[in-house]
Amino acid sequence: MYKGLYWMLEAVRENRNVGLKEFAGSEPTLYERLAHDPEVEKIFQDAMQELSVQVNADMVKAVDLRGIKHLVDVGGGDGTNIMAIAQQWPNLRATVFDSPTVCDIARKNIAGSGMADRLGAVAGECFKDPFPPDADCLLFAHFFTIWGEERDRELLRKCYASLPAGGKVMIFNMMQHDDESGPMSAALGSPYFLTLATGTGMLYTWSEYERWMEEAGFRDIKRHALPHDHGLIVGTKP
Ligand SMILES: C[S@@+](CC[C@H](N)C(=O)[O-])C[C@H]1O[C@@H](n2cnc3c(N)ncnc32)[C@H](O)[C@@H]1O
Repeated sequence: MYKGLYWMLEAVRENRNVGLKEFAGSEPTLYERLAHDPEVEKIFQDAMQELSVQVNADMVKAVDLRGIKHLVDVGGGDGTNIMAIAQQWPNLRATVFDSPTVCDIARKNIAGSGMADRLGAVAGECFKDPFPPDADCLLFAHFFTIWGEERDRELLRKCYASLPAGGKVMIFNMMQHDDESGPMSAALGSPYFLTLATGTGMLYTWSEYERWMEEAGFRDIKRHALPHDHGLIVGTKP
């Protein structure tokens, strides 16, 4: 991250992820370029896991998955989040939906979890490929911060079209206060998405996500404030 973020001033001036040139490849996002370098991709996933284990215990406590049969974790990374959720919900099936190289990492972790009979990983690109079938809950953990508003709204429309009635969409990541006054982590995190990851993402406010969910057709939208500046927003398809 440090080498990429060195280019923050240029990224602000040009409004694109100038820092990505520190990573080999020609793809437009950091995540695609990481696939060229298994060692760095593993370091990235280990770092994400560090963050996720610190915060996902609170998310697992906040979430109500009664009646949910199959949760798909879009951009689910190394499987840390589905393993934590599956421990809490013993009848739930859960699947990571991520790039082929990341799914390989997730499968190794799942194999050692003792829950391989109900957890899995399916390779795919979330904007182009259909979500894995039968999902009645779609989780986006540290994922909506990556993309610009139009792409996030597109994803929510796709979720609405894919889910059955009663299905849920969940957004879990750091949240910005509605009046945009903080927290400090929003100011520190947003430059990473602009300068390096995609050139379009940021830490959005709670109410932005809620408005986008509502526009996509979701109802009964609930917010759960969590420690470490995190939050969970859950919407239900009527
Ligand atoms: C910031 S990490 C979050 C990982 C995990 N959800 C967590 O909370 O620890 C973003 C993940 O999204 C994946 N990803 C990025 N673009 C994607 C796309 N277009 N389709 C599916 N997965 C994608 C990356 O490979 C990476 O594992």
